[in-house]
Amino acid sequence: MINENVVLSGMRATGRIHLGNYFGAVKNWVELQDRYRCFYFIADWHALTTDYADPSRIGGHSLEMLADLLASGLDPDRSVIFVQSMVPEHAELHLLLSMITPLGWLERVPTYKEQIRELSNKDLSTHGFLGYPVLQTADILLYRAHFVPVGEDQASHLELSREIGRRFNSYFGEIFPEPKALFTPTPKVPGLDGRKMSKSYGNTILLSDSPEEVDAKCNQMFTDPQRLRRKDVGHPETCNLYQFHRLFSSPELQEKVARECRRAQIGCVDDKRLIADQINSFLEPIRAKRQELLKSRDSLLDILYEGSGKARERATETMDLVRTALSINYRKVVEKTR
Ligand code: TRP
Repeated sequence: MINENVVLSGMRATGRIHLGNYFGAVKNWVELQDRYRCFYFIADWHALTTDYADPSRIGGHSLEMLADLLASGLDPDRSVIFVQSMVPEHAELHLLLSMITPLGWLERVPTYKEQIRELSNKDLSTHGFLGYPVLQTADILLYRAHFVPVGEDQASHLELSREIGRRFNSYFGEIFPEPKALFTPTPKVPGLDGRKMSKSYGNTILLSDSPEEVDAKCNQMFTDPQRLRRKDVGHPETCNLYQFHRLFSSPELQEKVARECRRAQIGCVDDKRLIADQINSFLEPIRAKRQELLKSRDSLLDILYEGSGKARERATETMDLVRTALSINYRKVVEKTR
């Protein structure tokens, strides 16, 4: 049974999807499709907030990401899948919300200063970048969403969205339900080097990586730092590679690898080959499906076109309520009096 509650989530169009995105978000999105009215979108305007100086790749990224999402199991018949910039109502609501959002709220968002520091090669002292969470709030409120499946890193953005929604409702009437975060149950996916898997660290495995690329990447994986020689015993619980067994291997294989590692019966090099095989069999069907999808860019564009049309139906309803609440619904007044 589909619950009438609305689920909404988005992903910045910054490149192909990696295993961290998959386990941190996409897998959850796929599972929610049978339970809620789901809206999922590619946030190309959010990519512009940091990549405005060279936007030439954003469009291509959006299509590649769409192929990744569909190959992972998002289904345009069960979810509304679209691109942010094809639903211009996001911009209108963003503008209106910006009127009631105190600057101090935005400056206090922890990711704001953090990102300015981390992306020091980019000039992020822009209005657009400060307003990132206002745009994100517009994304959510535009669909009057009840649940927002995201990773823990989005907690402060979600909190702000709730605050802006509350402030709007207190000025203009109860239009927006309070959006709740649905955090993904998956633990953080480690990267090849043991830090969180992230594009900016260059430690990712992509859904689109070829078997050879996966083999090569697994070869570079950090393992147990205390295990220097082949005959030393290993510690699966603190080994970066072993975290991948937890995600990709059967309970039997996990148990076998852990036992043999603790007794120095299996070496790190063998284990890297083993994990590469596990990851490759997981990725094989996804890879095949995305390659098939990318053969026809036109059908991908059709999917976005249709999805954006459906998204606009809900967005239009919301904006009608919002404009009326702000007493600037001229179109409606005109229609009534003629
Ligand atoms: N900020 C989110 C991220 O970096 C992406 C995003 C944009 C989003 N708009 C959203 C997520 C609305 C959830 C809801 O992952």
